[in-house]
Amino acid sequence: MSNSTRRGNSRGGSRTSATASRAARRPVQSPPPRPARLDLPTSLKQDPRWILLPLRAYLGFTFVYAGLSKVADRSFLDASSPTSMHATLLAVKGQSPIGGLLGPVADHSFAFGVLMALGELAVGTGMLLGLFGRVAAAGGTLISLSLFLTVSWGASPWYTGADIVYAFAFAPLLLGGAGPLSADEWLRNARRRDTGADPVMADRTRRVLLGGITGIGALVALGLASLFRGASPRGATANAHAGGSSGAPPDRTPTPTPTGSAPQSSGAAKGTKILAASAVPVGGAAAARDPKTGDDIYVLQLRPGAYTAVDRACPHQGCPVSFVSASAGFQCPCHSSTFDASGAVTQGPAISGLTKIPVTRSGNDILRA
Ligand code: FES
Repeated sequence: MSNSTRRGNSRGGSRTSATASRAARRPVQSPPPRPARLDLPTSLKQDPRWILLPLRAYLGFTFVYAGLSKVADRSFLDASSPTSMHATLLAVKGQSPIGGLLGPVADHSFAFGVLMALGELAVGTGMLLGLFGRVAAAGGTLISLSLFLTVSWGASPWYTGADIVYAFAFAPLLLGGAGPLSADEWLRNARRRDTGADPVMADRTRRVLLGGITGIGALVALGLASLFRGASPRGATANAHAGGSSGAPPDRTPTPTPTGSAPQSSGAAKGTKILAASAVPVGGAAAARDPKTGDDIYVLQLRPGAYTAVDRACPHQGCPVSFVSASAGFQCPCHSSTFDASGAVTQGPAISGLTKIPVTRSGNDILRA
């Protein structure tokens, strides 16, 4: 190695040691604190209950929406409407395994309707806020099971009805509570923090919190009460007095009138008698039973002498539809599907029309062909 190289190395070595000593004199700077952020994967590992969050949000939103829809829909509490709770109860009474309980409920459908809407709102709010999570989940399970045993009971196959799925969707929240990001958790942590703290302050915090929740609840109840005041229970009362628990659906079928002008058949028609032709009003319908299948049907006479019949089972989930009028057709009380007087679907969720029943007239009899 040459002298110059050695000199260079020696100079370089002294420079390095000077830099090192300057660095040693400089105060050590710690990295700036990173802002706290939600590390979801870590949180999931630490607390698997995070996976309940999407389910809780969905159930909360859906139940609040369902409750508000009932509050906003005046026909829900109007017993004279074919889509009211009263009409729905009577329509599903015959097919429900708890049909015996539905008569008295239908007689007080206004009160039960209000209770149902408030119950759904309470469950939805409880889920969204994570407040009284287990109680809200129990309420949601109860509401879903009652709907499964009534309006969804006719669903075929049974697992296509949504309510049984909702009933089981509440199970994890019923067993595990509301989980993270919930008022329940916050209250629990606050209680833990308060342990050993100034008892007066702790008590004050709890009182402020409970006061706030009660105040918000009272405001919501007042708002709902003013909304409900517009929906008169007179319809329910009138309908109940008119035989609300008799089991007869609230049909708009006009009173049968004599059909003297209807043409008589040649008498060669064959079939089983369904009902007397005179029982079917012109421009209206008469409820009857299909002698072949035992299904509930409507026999219609939309034009004088022109008789048709349709099965009352809604093609969506099997609820019996109600005849409204020749121009308005049929309405399903369960999920509001509508059909024209020929039975063709005019509004879903049903995607197909009512099943047509072949009928003929023989003398004064309507026969099942
Ligand atoms: Fe659902 Fe009729 S049963 S719309």
